[in-house]
Amino acid sequence: MQVAAFQERGLDADYSRFHVDADDVESAVDGAEVLGIEGLNVTIPHKRSVAELDTVETRELAEMTDAVNTLDFRDGKILGFNTDGAGARRALERAGAEIEDGRVVVVGAGGASRGISFELARNGVDLKILNRTASKARELASDIRGYGFEADGAGLDVLSDAVDEADVLVNATSVGMKEDETPVPGKHLHSDLVVFDAVYTPLETRLLREAREAGAETVEGAWMLVLQGAEAFEIWTDLEAPIETMNRVLREKL
Ligand code: ATR
Repeated sequence: MQVAAFQERGLDADYSRFHVDADDVESAVDGAEVLGIEGLNVTIPHKRSVAELDTVETRELAEMTDAVNTLDFRDGKILGFNTDGAGARRALERAGAEIEDGRVVVVGAGGASRGISFELARNGVDLKILNRTASKARELASDIRGYGFEADGAGLDVLSDAVDEADVLVNATSVGMKEDETPVPGKHLHSDLVVFDAVYTPLETRLLREAREAGAETVEGAWMLVLQGAEAFEIWTDLEAPIETMNRVLREKL
């Protein structure tokens, strides 16, 4: 996806994967800088440890969520970003979802939810975070309110009423990835919803299938993957990302 984007923009650049053990994260980042590498993506399980490196200056969402997925080596500095949240927001915007003042229900309160929930809250949505373990949803909502944004957290017992009133429903749990299961029973879905599933394998999860059957607008998790990559591309290159190309290449690989 990134290589195709570099080619389309005429850049002499490449993108490779490196396996790094937890003990070597700091030296890997320092080494990348010394080697003149211009940027890195960081993925599980290193997003938090990279955010906590003294050499990394975290920006905006990365600072709020204490999770970095993109590093930009620039002017002798190492800047840390979290583009996962923007990926989800841009995926919703593409589908025409109302973000500012929209009523959004996010199901899940783990790492994926943290990025998505913080990003949506700081863009002014009316946010409800619901999780199987209610205390984790309440904690995340409280962290978000600590930054001056609005969010409520609760358990799945209020799912039916919350989805009924919502404009947007986001699945940020892992449910639907391995088995044909859904975190939100189909009977709760309705045609006034935009439903986004952060799960991208399969491309159409049971949640999205049932949302489509209910007449809702659906947004595949693959779009979040494309658009978090597009956001990283734009940070590294200061150029607009060729989104259609990135989307096409990603789907060929998926
Ligand atoms: P990630 O980094 O992908 O978010 P995580 O931090 O392990 O992964 O979080 C997984 C999320 O999926 C959690 O919100 C989890 O709920 P709990 O906090 O109650 O564990 C949710 N989850 C996983 N399996 C679930 C299931 N079968 N039903 C409902 N929620 C589930």
